[in-house]
Amino acid sequence: MASSSCFLRSILFSSPTNLRSNHHLPTFFPKNHLICSHSTSSRFESLSVSSIGTGSTKKSSDTRRKVKSMARTNIGKEEKKRVEIYDLEENLAIDLAKFTADLSDKFCKKRGAFTVVVSGGSLIKSLRKLVESPYVDSIDWARWHFFWVDERVVPKNHDDSNYKLAYDSFLSKVPIPPGNVYAINEALSAEAAADDYETCLKHLVNTNILRVSESTGFPKFDLMLLGMGPDGHVASLFPGHGLCNESKKWVVSISDSPKPPSERITFTFPVINSSAHVALVVCGSGKAEAVEAALKKTGNVPPAGSVSAEDELVWFLDKPASSKL
Ligand code: 6PG
Repeated sequence: MASSSCFLRSILFSSPTNLRSNHHLPTFFPKNHLICSHSTSSRFESLSVSSIGTGSTKKSSDTRRKVKSMARTNIGKEEKKRVEIYDLEENLAIDLAKFTADLSDKFCKKRGAFTVVVSGGSLIKSLRKLVESPYVDSIDWARWHFFWVDERVVPKNHDDSNYKLAYDSFLSKVPIPPGNVYAINEALSAEAAADDYETCLKHLVNTNILRVSESTGFPKFDLMLLGMGPDGHVASLFPGHGLCNESKKWVVSISDSPKPPSERITFTFPVINSSAHVALVVCGSGKAEAVEAALKKTGNVPPAGSVSAEDELVWFLDKPASSKL
């Protein structure tokens, strides 16, 4: 019998240096009964950016927040996408924390749970304000359920592990119940780990922790927090890779990732795009061209250009990342 990371949660949510990866417990989660169909094309066909208060000083109770430029998109039929541009990454981090805390408050009150997905990379650093006052004490962490949009198939104490990254800077600082942290079972092959994670998600759907999108049939996470690579990849969905077109599976494996390490698992676009809220957090001039191509839909539109959300998509950009918009 394959092991299931669902049952390993409480074991895995401990210091990565103490982790053992060979715990095996029986899987008995029912197989999925959902019939899934989805288009991966973005629902946002055009983008025009108009600046609001560009270069002006924005009054704020937070004195660190001196200048904030904001641009909003006018999408025509879709009004759910916006682009926010910050002169300083510090200000972006402050707003990202507030954005996340507000959604946490809303979903914890509304449905008694908040399902949050993170990527690896620099996003985790941009979440640093959440583990500071006032949020660290005011967020209802007990109701959080924490997932990864992608993970590298390496031991949890490995420097390449997205679990370790999130644990060191985030999870170790907040009281999310260990049983609510859904790490992959990296003792399995990449393919089996992807199947195992998908089975775990289906179990959480069956137990009503995870919602299902009425329009797509895919799981509907409350909030997905994504970074983007310089080539415009999101999660482990890379430009030109066939996995970008996956339309049925929830979680897939990749063994030829152009960004090392090569073995990973990743959510698919239908899952990402069925989220209620998605934040795409992108900083640095090295990503400006991919931001431009993704938002203006120019040239070869990278995977980030296919990201959408059912309720709201927000791009959090620092000024260098937005320099070609
Ligand atoms: C991963 C990530 C990946 C990441 C982007 C951006 O595990 O590699 O989940 O999708 O978010 O590559 O990473 P940076 O922000 O560090 O550039």
